[in-house]
Amino acid sequence: MLVQNGWYHGACWQLRPCRRTSCQLFCFSKTEVQRTTSSAGVRGVPEKFFFSLAAPGGKKGIILMNIMQQDILQQLEQLQQDAQTALTQTTTTEAIREWYSEYLSRKGRLTGILRNLGNLSAEERPLVGKVANEVKAVLENALQEHQSAIARAELEAIRRTESVDITLPGRPQNLGKLHVTTRALRDIYAIFTAMGFQIYDSPEVDTDEYNFQLLNMPPGHPARDMWDTFYTTTPGLLLRTHTSPGQVHAMRQYAPEPIRVILPGKCYRYEAVDASHESMFYQVEGLAVGKHITFSDLKGVLINFANQMYGQGRKARFRKSYFPFTEPSVEMDIDCVLCGGKGCPVCKNTGWLEMLGAGMVQPRVLQNGGYDPTEFSGFAFGMGPDRIALQKYGIDDIRYFFTNDARLLERV
Ligand code: DAH
Repeated sequence: MLVQNGWYHGACWQLRPCRRTSCQLFCFSKTEVQRTTSSAGVRGVPEKFFFSLAAPGGKKGIILMNIMQQDILQQLEQLQQDAQTALTQTTTTEAIREWYSEYLSRKGRLTGILRNLGNLSAEERPLVGKVANEVKAVLENALQEHQSAIARAELEAIRRTESVDITLPGRPQNLGKLHVTTRALRDIYAIFTAMGFQIYDSPEVDTDEYNFQLLNMPPGHPARDMWDTFYTTTPGLLLRTHTSPGQVHAMRQYAPEPIRVILPGKCYRYEAVDASHESMFYQVEGLAVGKHITFSDLKGVLINFANQMYGQGRKARFRKSYFPFTEPSVEMDIDCVLCGGKGCPVCKNTGWLEMLGAGMVQPRVLQNGGYDPTEFSGFAFGMGPDRIALQKYGIDDIRYFFTNDARLLERV
């Protein structure tokens, strides 16, 4: 009898060819073998696996025993090898899933092998169980390592092919900007409110009486031509041509209290539209009424305004002028903000920019507002914030203001 490498070789009594597929040579049924004392020193076979054969009518002798246990152990070893080799060949998460289902899942090969555990004797089972657990642990560890390597590789591949390049600069958002006229208006409000003026709202649709008559322009007055406007179908109702009628509205509301107000808003004019004229535009009116108000007060307020609006040290000049609602009347110029007075296209080479019309409130207008002109005096002025914005931002055509071309805002 020959025992070699753990397997029985050679003809032997009562042995019959094994019916289990993985058994290499012969096999005994469980009843055919009996546990016996060990027979150390036989190469390749652990001593505790030695059995004596007690086959019917047979001779006793030491032969390789418990082929079943050996077989399972070998299957486990084989499984471990197969699984490890297969694992190294998986390259995707999907393949790993398939691998798991083949080897470690409930329907996998490991469980399949362990099903035969029931065929082993109670003494044999622990060793096989232990080996099986070890194989399982080894495979699970390998799986985990391989799985995270693959996950990392997959992520890396995604990063290379699909990821967002965070080093690219973002697309800039277009931020909105205030319209240049709104900016000019807000600057004007800030300057005058700091000097104690309140902002007063007056109607854009007004009457002939307020727009002209109460401002000392009775029907037929030649100055009305300068302020021709749009008329509504209601007789006497028109779109105001200037903010000056607001003076009388304010005076009638506050008389006989002293007043310091600015009146901003839209005005409309029957106008041939060109680079410096629009049929709709903005004005800001100013009015101060009280006792002892003089032309010096007017000059002081306006020069202070010009310095704050255009920068300190502005030169200002007052030219005599005519408005029916002020007396005396002036126009105020400042030295050109663009060329500093040297002469340029914006100031039409005069070195000066027209800024506003002003004057002392005409006594009849004061009276129309409810003030006694022997006791009260006042000054008034009217300016165009659109024009101020044109000058301040060096824009050469007022029509840009109302054509909704956002590029205008980029320029200023
Ligand atoms: N209302 C005038 C215009 O539209 C501007 C003006 C001039 C307003 C003199 C005033 C003033 O209050 O005193 O041209």
